[in-house]
Amino acid sequence: MLGVLLLIFALLFAAVSPQVSAVLVDFQVAQPPPVPQDAKQCTIQILQRDFAFSFGLAEVVQYTPVTDCGTPGSWAAVTLNFTVTSNGTQFDRLAIFTFQNVEIWRSSTPEPTTAGIIWTYIKDVTRYTPLFAKPGTFILQLDNLIQDNLNGVYSTTLHATFYASSSKHPPAEKANTIIPLSTLANNTGNDASVPPPFSINVTLPQNAIEVYAELYPSGNGKEETWYSNIANEFLGDFSSGTPAQAFLGQGPFREVRLLVDGQVAGVAFPYPVIFTGGIVPSQWRPITSYGALDLPTYFLDLTPFVPLLTDGKPHLFTIDVASAEADKTILQNWFVSGVLQVITDTSSKPTTGKITSYSAEPFAESSTTGSVRKNGDISITVTASRKIHITADILSGSGKINRVVFSQNLEYINQQAYFHNTSIQNTFQLSSGSVLSTHNNVPALVDTFSYPITINLTLLNDAGTFFSAVVDHSYDRTLHPSPFILGSTIKERQVAGGFFTISPTGNTGNGTNNNTFSYVDTVGNTFNRRVDAAFNNITLDEQSGSLSRAPEKRLPESVDSEIFAAAASH
Ligand SMILES: *[C@@H]1O[C@H](CO)[C@@H](O)[C@H](O)[C@H]1NC(C)=O
Ligand SMILES: *[C@@H]1O[C@H](CO)[C@@H](O)[C@H](O)[C@H]1NC(C)=O
Ligand SMILES: *[C@@H]1O[C@H](CO)[C@@H](O)[C@H](O)[C@H]1NC(C)=O
Ligand SMILES: *[C@@H]1O[C@H](CO)[C@@H](O)[C@H](O)[C@H]1NC(C)=O
Ligand SMILES: *[C@@H]1O[C@H](CO)[C@@H](O)[C@H](O)[C@H]1NC(C)=O
Ligand SMILES: *[C@@H]1O[C@H](CO)[C@@H](O)[C@H](O)[C@H]1NC(C)=O
Ligand SMILES: *[C@@H]1O[C@H](CO)[C@@H](O)[C@H](O)[C@H]1NC(C)=O
Ligand SMILES: *[C@@H]1O[C@H](CO)[C@@H](O)[C@H](O)[C@H]1NC(C)=O
Ligand SMILES: *[C@@H]1O[C@H](CO)[C@@H](O)[C@H](O)[C@H]1NC(C)=O
Repeated sequence: MLGVLLLIFALLFAAVSPQVSAVLVDFQVAQPPPVPQDAKQCTIQILQRDFAFSFGLAEVVQYTPVTDCGTPGSWAAVTLNFTVTSNGTQFDRLAIFTFQNVEIWRSSTPEPTTAGIIWTYIKDVTRYTPLFAKPGTFILQLDNLIQDNLNGVYSTTLHATFYASSSKHPPAEKANTIIPLSTLANNTGNDASVPPPFSINVTLPQNAIEVYAELYPSGNGKEETWYSNIANEFLGDFSSGTPAQAFLGQGPFREVRLLVDGQVAGVAFPYPVIFTGGIVPSQWRPITSYGALDLPTYFLDLTPFVPLLTDGKPHLFTIDVASAEADKTILQNWFVSGVLQVITDTSSKPTTGKITSYSAEPFAESSTTGSVRKNGDISITVTASRKIHITADILSGSGKINRVVFSQNLEYINQQAYFHNTSIQNTFQLSSGSVLSTHNNVPALVDTFSYPITINLTLLNDAGTFFSAVVDHSYDRTLHPSPFILGSTIKERQVAGGFFTISPTGNTGNGTNNNTFSYVDTVGNTFNRRVDAAFNNITLDEQSGSLSRAPEKRLPESVDSEIFAAAASH
């Protein structure tokens, strides 16, 4: 029998190199950062590095703040420009940007072509302004391998641009202190591999009055396509297939948990990011899967815990990832890290107060049902839900009372259906819900999200070496991370499909990728884009909104034939 191929392709056939005769301009659909175009700008190069055989060899550089665009930290906005070229055959890789021991951006790399690819992503890092205001270490971890027939080098350049503030463009609002929940390593990316759970002792300023956490999670290895993992109860109903086609268990549900002193403080039901080697690699070219160049992060309001955290003593923060299986464990592995954004009081007197109610189970409630028919068809449904409600009264040293309510109401369903001896594999997953915190009845953090994904994979020959897939997924999210970080509503739908053939003489594939994107933020910036690609060509590109710039004229690519070199398996 054939295995769950989604994962297998991602692992074994992820590196593809079509012979496209011109340099392909890859991109992820996203809004241009909402920065003041008419402000004075100062751009500096942070680093330049060719990542060839770079496993364990991160780029580590020293950063010094610019002084030509106003007092360091007084900027209206800060952005990063990551521009990369690569030629040849290579897997998609993770890029972890760590600054002052804080992860500030997680990306993955589009797979190169023999004629070469180039991509630029402009990342808004304004919320990390306090880090950019002082000198420190910047680390870019991009673990790449040059071996067997993997020869693609990622040639990278990273610039930072600082936008001077003025009366027209005031300094960006910011936290007083940013504290990493990270490995604190000084020679590599500061993300931790879980399991086991990652823990760190952190001491907060005693006059902290508001604390917001941001979580960076992504599945890797046997967890890369976690949404297609099979509930253990039904794992035995799938035959083992070839040695390469291992069936993966622990089910498809994942929640990223943040615990404070062992108590659940909040969780995230993550958006399923598909890297460019995922499912049908040829459908992510030149438009990557949504999120592949800027992985979504998740925000929690930890203000209810301030009365515990302001005693001047270290407290244990733990990040882990749990499944809906009986033992709640997952396979190897997820990469995680976190950031605390802390607001301190004008008074240096310690903050006091108390948690007035706490309602959070250690794990999500879940159920798994399914059936195996006589003809071998298998259907499995996993559902999960989460309700968290924590209230606290916070009394600042300067005498202000903050009545805080933090709540999470999250829902999850995953339906997998396998027909015709598993040659048809249909997956539907929907994570949705709302995260809301209020401070004295005023919303402080809002995250209302819906992440539906449908994957229809069809094997077109008995050996499973020829297949097609359609991925229809959306990222609908209203996110106000905190009162001092710009809020926005993003609606992106991406429908991508293609064919893929695995052959000892060279894999071949093709694909189309259609996107409808809209962005609106709390200060009124807007951006809309419809962009379609077919067989490596952009066939439609319409942009509008206050942030839109005239689309660059793209030279038509001429695609002689789509030959994909088979990548070596590890
Ligand atoms: C199912 O597929 C496997 C692998 O191709 C094959 O060995 C097996 O005979 C098939 N079973 C049926 C009932 O078609
Ligand atoms: C980003 O940086 C590259 C050089 O690395 C440059 O060519 C490009 O113009 C920059 N893009 C923007 C929007 O600043
Ligand atoms: C890819 O090839 C182009 C054209 O030959 C060259 O300009 C570029 O430097 C190459 N990039 C890498 C990463 O090798
Ligand atoms: C990096 O960390 C190691 C181990 O913690 C330590 O010995 C070393 O001094 C650190 N290097 C720098 C430059 O901080
Ligand atoms: C945190 O501190 C406690 C108390 O000192 C200690 O027992 C524990 O090992 C520490 N944990 C970590 C992850 O550093
Ligand atoms: C794709 O899969 C979904 C469920 O995952 C199913 O409802 C739908 O009918 C499938 N579409 C096709 C064309 O098979
Ligand atoms: C994308 O749009 C084109 C043009 O409408 C269409 O031919 C193609 O089938 C669409 N792709 C998918 C995967 O739906
Ligand atoms: C895409 O690949 C499939 C399967 O090989 C093929 O039938 C189809 O004609 C290809 N489409 C294009 C436009 O090349
Ligand atoms: C891409 O577009 C160009 C110009 O419109 C066309 O000549 C070429 O055939 C297209 N390639 C494919 C594979 O459709």
